[in-house]
Amino acid sequence: MTDSQNIKKKYLIIHGPNLNLLGTREPEIYGTTSLADINFRLNEFADKNGIELEIIQSNSEGAIIDALHNAMDKVNGIIINPGAYTHYSLAIFDAVVACGLPVVEVHLSNIYSREQFRRHSVIAPACIGQITGLGWYGYILGLEALIRL
Ligand code: DQA
Repeated sequence: MTDSQNIKKKYLIIHGPNLNLLGTREPEIYGTTSLADINFRLNEFADKNGIELEIIQSNSEGAIIDALHNAMDKVNGIIINPGAYTHYSLAIFDAVVACGLPVVEVHLSNIYSREQFRRHSVIAPACIGQITGLGWYGYILGLEALIRL
């Protein structure tokens, strides 16, 4: 086996604002699974599938943009749940375009069945796809898509 066959594919997961409160935040909408539990399941999936994950959570738009910039040339793809930034952050849209990587937008809740202001994503047009309403499993589906692409 050559060295190149040993290199694991790496993916970045970005959890946006307020997702640190999962488990206690509006459980009727977001469920009772904590962010730590979601990350545990993602790492389990990564181990089973021979991939490497970097997982970050930030409440700050600038930190999310920095993470997208820093990922350039370092990862094979990105999963992002931009939280409420989804609905208005053109700066995150620009950073997703600029990073040049395949990015999947994930939402725990179905943003299309909620308040009017949540039914539009300014970031989705820069992504290869969007998964919404399937809870934490949406992150796994996003990773599956990135791995197989
Ligand atoms: C969310 C949906 C957003 O509208 C909301 O602001 C969030 C979470 C989701 O995962 O369902 O913070 O991105």
